[in-house]
Amino acid sequence: MSADGVFRVGLLGHGTVGGAFATMLPLHADRIERLTGLRPELSGVMTRRSGSFKEILEGSDLIVELMGGIDPTRTYLLEAMRAGRHVVTANKQLLSQHGEELWECARVCGVQLRFEGAVAGVVPVIRVLQEALAGATIERVHGIVNGTTNFILTEMARVGMTFPEALAEAQRLGYAEADPSEDVDGRDAAAKMAILARLAFDTPVSLSQVRYEGIEHIQPDDLAYADELGLQLKLIGTAERVGSGLSVRVHPAFLYPGHPLASVSGPFNAVTVESEAITEITMSGPGAGGPQTASAVLGDVISAMIPPASTPPTSRVLEIVGDVVSAFYLHLEVADQPGVLATVAQVLAEQDVSVKSVVQRGLGAQARLVMVVHPVLESRFTEAMAALAGLDVLRAPPRAIRVLEEEFG
Ligand code: HSE
Repeated sequence: MSADGVFRVGLLGHGTVGGAFATMLPLHADRIERLTGLRPELSGVMTRRSGSFKEILEGSDLIVELMGGIDPTRTYLLEAMRAGRHVVTANKQLLSQHGEELWECARVCGVQLRFEGAVAGVVPVIRVLQEALAGATIERVHGIVNGTTNFILTEMARVGMTFPEALAEAQRLGYAEADPSEDVDGRDAAAKMAILARLAFDTPVSLSQVRYEGIEHIQPDDLAYADELGLQLKLIGTAERVGSGLSVRVHPAFLYPGHPLASVSGPFNAVTVESEAITEITMSGPGAGGPQTASAVLGDVISAMIPPASTPPTSRVLEIVGDVVSAFYLHLEVADQPGVLATVAQVLAEQDVSVKSVVQRGLGAQARLVMVVHPVLESRFTEAMAALAGLDVLRAPPRAIRVLEEEFG
């Protein structure tokens, strides 16, 4: 910190969030000075095309990283911490792939590495897991942690927008990543779930251990049938204890109306934390957007100007479990002839898949069968899907989406 009571903030990146942060910082400088006794000032801005990292580093007490990407960002952050600078970042991909190295560096160097903006925008999930819930044994975390996909699914269901129209609108509103395929294919949510799992279960979790599916294959009629069955479709991240291990995954899922995440719509995010001691806590709010995420980043800067907090070393290594139990929605286009329903039921029964509800529509020579099946080991359901796909009475490849089975409320 410079002797004149100024706290110098160097900014890497000037995109949607970086630009919003640069605008916001001077507007809040008076209040922050009253709170901390130090006046924050932007000491320099570097982008991928302009500026010198060395100069920014020398002129700053803290580095805010909103540039994204893995390299050279990782090197910059390690260099900054080794030079004794606090770091605030919203870079979920970097933390989900190199978090252990960065957190270890922060510990060794005695500086703060804060990252509230990396998960769920301005919803304070990181500090709740690191601080408020530090004393709880967490059993499960469910999250809607990608604003773009939640916005797309909401708009498709609400006003019948097509997928490309809804995606274009999400990009226009500044929710989507520079490469929106990371939103749509589930990778952005998977990175965020790796970070949440790391904090909730105190075990190393990297992005490569998170199984993820996106929403590219969702069809408008999946949403129509969901409506008919009284379900809401969301891209859900889950991190939960399974036996003595941990499962972390992201996939589209149908929710019953009483589920705490069922009513979360538009670009909003929400995270539900379950633990015996606390029952269940749900936090929700804006999960994407420049000013919203910049506000979480500014909160981290203010916290870094006060006393230290750090991510403790992991205390165990839990086995990552690949095969878990899920309920499914199953959509089949079949020939409308005697014995077809019995054949489908037989294939399902062979894999222990039990049907909970069925809607059948006649469509001339074909019929559409839409079912919800009871929870079953995913590997068994995958076997059943493969067997169904091979039936000559199938008129299109079978489609399936998971259903969160808990019926709340
Ligand atoms: N693209 C991200 C989202 C931004 O849509 O949630 C916030 O990380």
